[in-house]
Amino acid sequence: MNRIHNFSAGPAVLPESIVRQAQKDLYNHENTGLGIVECSHRSAQFDTVINSAKTRLHSLLGCDDDQEVLFLHGGARTQFYMLPMNLLRGGKAAYLDTGKWAEGAVEDAQRYGDIDVLFSSKETHWDRIPRQSDYAIEKGTRYLHYTSNNTVSGTEFHYRPEVPDGTWLMCDMSSNILSRRMDGSKFDFIYAGAQKNLGPSGTTVVIIRKSLLAQCDPNLPAMLRYGIHVAKDSMYNTPCTFSIYVIELMLRWITDQGGVDVVEARNRAHARKVYDLIDGSDFWTGKTAIDARSLMNLTFTTGNDRLDTTFWQTAANEGLSGLKGHRSVGGLRASLYNAQNDVSVDALCAFMRDFERQQG
Ligand SMILES: Cc1ncc(COP(=O)(O)O)c(C=O)c1O
Repeated sequence: MNRIHNFSAGPAVLPESIVRQAQKDLYNHENTGLGIVECSHRSAQFDTVINSAKTRLHSLLGCDDDQEVLFLHGGARTQFYMLPMNLLRGGKAAYLDTGKWAEGAVEDAQRYGDIDVLFSSKETHWDRIPRQSDYAIEKGTRYLHYTSNNTVSGTEFHYRPEVPDGTWLMCDMSSNILSRRMDGSKFDFIYAGAQKNLGPSGTTVVIIRKSLLAQCDPNLPAMLRYGIHVAKDSMYNTPCTFSIYVIELMLRWITDQGGVDVVEARNRAHARKVYDLIDGSDFWTGKTAIDARSLMNLTFTTGNDRLDTTFWQTAANEGLSGLKGHRSVGGLRASLYNAQNDVSVDALCAFMRDFERQQG
């Protein structure tokens, strides 16, 4: 069977060239006679892979010398508590509640300090993003945490929040990391599950400032201490070697495409095609405020639950998969991550037009 068009929110589409390379390397990686998942994480063979992934990610994100890249376990969700456990320590932090995952981060952080939710769009189904002027960060706040792209509702920050001197900026970039230029050096802490823009599930990328390590709680269990992971170069325990291997291929691919700017331009063009179609029709409605629309997760509806279901089911039968909205919100969602290709986006637009013609 041919590969189908994949609009899943994650795990998500990978470039075909990477899937084929991985197929080959599972059997025999770099002519070593060993498959990539069969070699030791402490071997020279894997060392080359993880070092390259680390250097490439650091450089593509535009990080500075004080920032360390880690590859950890436990998903982005583990960072919801690992971050405040280490760095909140009973102090005050500010959070922007712009979605289901942002809310999850608030709930976990509340166990470790005083959490000021400066903004919430929950009442309007997280359909908007605050402007900088909509919130003020109190003096003495240790950090501001925000979710740069809200995977479920389909909104995205199109600016980087400003923080006062002495307040750190922490960001969950799970669903838009490297999809656009973000200047990593402006952040104090970044985390992202790999399974959307960077590769398969199993690894969470964490970028932490080394200058923050001295402020982390030293009494936590070893696996929860950033300092240990930094000292051991993400090898305190066995990392997810396969996922890191694919991340390295994906980072190489981004560079080969021409870098983050080229990928961003393509992502913008993809999103524009679908949003233009939605805006040019009375049949489709976008589910978010226009100025908050995500380039990664495009949410829309026919306005009729039954018709929405018919849409994603029919689409799936015709080889367009993953268009069902998140189970908590319903409707429809097309995820157009970095690896999404022009052919699939055009197929989606053609299918939407046909569906409108038949049902509208
Ligand atoms: C923005 C965001 N944060 C966190 C998570 C949770 O990630 P994980 O499943 O890796 O724990 C997700 C998952 O989709 C997400 O989209």
